[in-house]
Amino acid sequence: MTDPTPVSTTATTLHVGGASPYDVVVGTDLAGHLPALVGDAAERVALVVDTRLQPYADALVETLGEREVLVFAVPEGEECKSVEVAAEIWNALGEEGFTRSDAVVTLGGGATTDLGGFVAATWLRGVRVVHVPTTLLAMVDAAVGGKTAVNTDAGKNLVGAFHEPAGVLCDLSYLRTLAGEELVSGLAEVIKCGFIADPEILRLAESVEPGTLDVDDPVLRELVERAIRVKIDVVVDDLRETGGRDGHPGREVLNYGHTLGHAIEAVSGYSIRHGEAVSLGCVYVAELARLEGRIGPELVQRHRDVLGRFGLPTGMTGPSFEDVLAVMRVDKKTRGSQLRFVVLDDVARPAVLAGPSEDNLRAAYAALELGDEAPDQP
Ligand code: GLY
Repeated sequence: MTDPTPVSTTATTLHVGGASPYDVVVGTDLAGHLPALVGDAAERVALVVDTRLQPYADALVETLGEREVLVFAVPEGEECKSVEVAAEIWNALGEEGFTRSDAVVTLGGGATTDLGGFVAATWLRGVRVVHVPTTLLAMVDAAVGGKTAVNTDAGKNLVGAFHEPAGVLCDLSYLRTLAGEELVSGLAEVIKCGFIADPEILRLAESVEPGTLDVDDPVLRELVERAIRVKIDVVVDDLRETGGRDGHPGREVLNYGHTLGHAIEAVSGYSIRHGEAVSLGCVYVAELARLEGRIGPELVQRHRDVLGRFGLPTGMTGPSFEDVLAVMRVDKKTRGSQLRFVVLDDVARPAVLAGPSEDNLRAAYAALELGDEAPDQP
């Protein structure tokens, strides 16, 4: 097979160990790495692409030489994550005689990655998939770790499978396709990684002039690589989220800020960006940890400062506590009847807080509404 596009030499390769090892390649102009990740055995490639990114598909297709490429342009964002869209692709794969040695490639944000990963996980009980994430959120979170899903009437991401990719290409050039707010939204997940595992991420985020952080900035690349390393370390230890070791929450740690974040997204009808909801959720769990006597006010303020300096929200007036609590109680992160939150005992010292008092839950929420520290409970 001819693989015509040269491979970039400035890429960083981050290895993901475990039972199905793979590489995450980070850099710019990485299309030339695709054929090696797709593998020689694949005669056909199903390229699942967010319809808005179709103009970028040709450059990837060109690298695939003589392989037959079936392009599936899917609806933008979460719209694509339906059983119907997956079924359309399954039917087409059937018609084309897509075999177990063929491969799926995704090009898009986290929703495209989730859908394409789900199709790859389910077609013939699992074919190779390579993710080419185009958003910061997808690079540092969705594309790594093998979670795939579609949405159903029962809820978001409730139907899915663990299916690790054969490789991930994080080509930072795609970040130019993002509106500024989308880049900032992705930074919430990066900063989350700083709080749960890598203080250097916080120091970098605190040192950079927020308005100047663009795609060519080496600091952005370092932030991305560090956040991906955090995710890799977590998923290698606890791929299936069954629990961590030595008091570490395991993969659940990635949910820092997400219990409230998901509830705010749901109550807002998904009109708020994921990263903005996570930002609010991180401040919320920091307030909760303070109220539980785990951290001091300085660390809560550090959350507000570092998230806020990028324009991420750290306070809000909005849905009532009762509405948000009701959603949190049915979230899939709840186990049994107990609400669970990942909290900190310090930077990079995460723990699970199960069943906090409703008084503290409410007081931490009030602090978000005040945009300030919550008063202590009597
Ligand atoms: N997005 C959270 C996880 O991958 O577990």
